[in-house]
Amino acid sequence: MVAAIVGDRRHLSRFKVAQLARTFAHVNWFHSLRLKPFLAKIDMERLREIQQRYASSSARYTKYADVERWLKINLARVHELGLDRSSPKEILDLGCGGGFFLFLAKQFGHSGVGLDVDDFPLSNELVDLLQVKRIVWRIKPFEPPPDLGRKFDWITGFSTAFNRNEDESRGWGPDEWTYLLNDLQRRLEPGGKIFFEINSGKTKKYFPPKVRDLFLQRGATVKGEDIFFPAKN
Ligand SMILES: C[S@@+](CC[C@H](N)C(=O)[O-])C[C@H]1O[C@@H](n2cnc3c(N)ncnc32)[C@H](O)[C@@H]1O
Repeated sequence: MVAAIVGDRRHLSRFKVAQLARTFAHVNWFHSLRLKPFLAKIDMERLREIQQRYASSSARYTKYADVERWLKINLARVHELGLDRSSPKEILDLGCGGGFFLFLAKQFGHSGVGLDVDDFPLSNELVDLLQVKRIVWRIKPFEPPPDLGRKFDWITGFSTAFNRNEDESRGWGPDEWTYLLNDLQRRLEPGGKIFFEINSGKTKKYFPPKVRDLFLQRGATVKGEDIFFPAKN
């Protein structure tokens, strides 16, 4: 009897697993289909060669070699900001990494530039592969980012890491953020908006409550690690 119950359970669990696999296969297939037009814009031979070279690498940010996965994540970001259905916008992306967000934004008719360091060879290769404009720049506390000669409709920063001190022992506090936000506000076109997805770290130390309060005081909507500063005018 016990064996029969166990047997049934096993049967049920196998059935469930099969069912889940079918569901996820469908989801994956759906996502792949959505990515198809974007993947078609990428030199796949070169991408596969890059992926092979980084397959067993333990370097920081090697995860970004999984371009399909990160395109999926960034497509969701593009949708979240309404960039899949808006007039052409100028975007500044802080800490742009491999450039997935700007690459996708470009496919929807937008133009943009990223700021990032060039310390990570894979990110450099991806920016080149995706033909994204990137200015090599280390964002530092109380130092203005470079003059980019124009204003922006969107300033973004996803999974931010620039807001950490050099040894990453702590995150920026309200003073560092106030300096950057004042600077960024001056770089916005009328109607311009700012969006950050703060990478708060495992212990949340890169997003202390004082910084959250500052964002709220400055009129941001804060949902978890997502910070949205609406247009001022
Ligand atoms: C977690 S990755 C996120 C990359 C990209 N935003 C994304 O979501 O795919 C963090 C990025 O911030 C960049 N970064 C870290 N410190 C920085 C700094 N001080 N100035 C500019 N970029 C920085 C890193 O090089 C890296 O590309």
